[in-house]
Amino acid sequence: MITRRQFFSIAGGAAAGCLAHSLPAWGSPVSSTDTGRSTSGFLPDVELRLTSMPTEVPLFKGSPTAVWAYRGEVIKGPPESLVHLKSSFLGPVIRVRKGQKVRVHFENRIPASSIIHWHGLHVPQEMDGHPRFAVPQGETYRYDFEVVDRSGTYWYHPHPHGRTGHQVYGGMAGLFLVTDDEEAELDLPSGDYEVPLVIQDRSFNMDNQLVYLSGGMMGRMTGHMGDVILVNGRPRFTLKAATRVYRLRILNGSNARVYNLAWDDGSHLTVIGTDGGLLTRPLKRSSVLIGPGERLDVWADFTRYAEGTGPNLISGGFDAGTAGTMGGGRMGRGMMGPVLPNGAPFQVMEVEIAKKEKEHRRLPERLSKLPPPSVEDAVNIELPRKFELSMFHMHGLINGRSFQMTQVADDEIVQADTTEIWEFTNPSGQMGMMGMTIPHPMHLHGAKFRVLGRAGVSQSGHQDEGWKDTVLLMPGERIRLLVRFGKYSGLFLYHCHNLEHGDAGMMRNYLIKSDQGIRIL
Ligand code: C2O
Ligand code: CU
Ligand code: CU
Repeated sequence: MITRRQFFSIAGGAAAGCLAHSLPAWGSPVSSTDTGRSTSGFLPDVELRLTSMPTEVPLFKGSPTAVWAYRGEVIKGPPESLVHLKSSFLGPVIRVRKGQKVRVHFENRIPASSIIHWHGLHVPQEMDGHPRFAVPQGETYRYDFEVVDRSGTYWYHPHPHGRTGHQVYGGMAGLFLVTDDEEAELDLPSGDYEVPLVIQDRSFNMDNQLVYLSGGMMGRMTGHMGDVILVNGRPRFTLKAATRVYRLRILNGSNARVYNLAWDDGSHLTVIGTDGGLLTRPLKRSSVLIGPGERLDVWADFTRYAEGTGPNLISGGFDAGTAGTMGGGRMGRGMMGPVLPNGAPFQVMEVEIAKKEKEHRRLPERLSKLPPPSVEDAVNIELPRKFELSMFHMHGLINGRSFQMTQVADDEIVQADTTEIWEFTNPSGQMGMMGMTIPHPMHLHGAKFRVLGRAGVSQSGHQDEGWKDTVLLMPGERIRLLVRFGKYSGLFLYHCHNLEHGDAGMMRNYLIKSDQGIRIL
């Protein structure tokens, strides 16, 4: 029997109404209605059940931590389609091949409505996890989609209106790895040598329970900043490694924190892929900025380290804007110690060489065929679509507008299967934010893009190569993207992936129109 425990203790009581949930005992019977809208005749190669549920995990000495987690099972298809991370609250890693047809029964057993979004995957609108499709506790949403994306490090997480930050923070997130022939040919490190690293920050109270948004107004403005860094849902994570080459599949799964990743012994970070898969060739970087929602595929060569040694993965200090230094998280565990502001340096994880092994691998010089972005493809070269980000009275705004569930403006309509230039601006020092500046990681559903360039860059470490779906705008930056819209028509989201900003309205629909006409559900 699981004890009933407060999921999140809320200090200050601000907006506690929607944030504090007590745990129902899970395992109670649920009425199950399939609300997914799918075409008949869909024959899945892989069929999964993902259930969101309250549960508890032992993270620290003493009380276990109450979380909301995805639990998964394979109903049909290769059993290795799901990989369960050991003692982690994170959802299982979903592993599929390009071209596979996937059916997922999402069973919602948390006491709040929810819906799953497949971040980075190109799927029809009703399979994309738009908040308008959220299902209440006890209901099931069925997803049917074909994996049409190239190999890459994608992920899944909830996307209900105004509650995404809360639910991801509570533990609901997982990786979705896609492989294809091009990637398979490279024979990159796999099995024990391919390690998912989901980096998140959390705050805990003295009873080891998660605390969310206790920073009041400031916490909502900066987004939640935790002072405990978790890797794959574990604090003080150590990767026990052999003297081999590893492939690290890194996701910044944090709500709001930006990391400036580097090895602490000064060796380069070798990036082989970003959000939407492999780069043309490996890139050696002294440090890489990674905003919430972004991914990095890293080649890590541990062959030269002696047993008992190994490098630490750190986040180096950087300037996160004026709001960063003001905090926005909470006091440390036990109310002692300062907050860990965005931009503060800390250790992410340790690598400890535990075994000598022979290695035969060499870093490939060529990774994938990726044509350089060609601006000529854009239908709006003369007139890039411009978006300016701002916050006003705790509302997140894009071009002065906040999210509305099904609303789309005239200047938010694009044509399916076309390419456009989109330009996002993160102004520095706007008065609407009490003069604060803050990073905004921007994300598009239903499309992938290439970065054409940035202006106003004050911080090194941006990783803009390859196919991206999320891109970090530091304060004062302007970015130009070459966006490729897919073939599926309908309403898709674009938003800030600082989850507190998205929940505060820094999110909009855009409409993909096709000649076949559009169907808005
Ligand atoms: Cu990962 Cu709409 O988000
Ligand atoms: Cu997404
Ligand atoms: Cu933002």
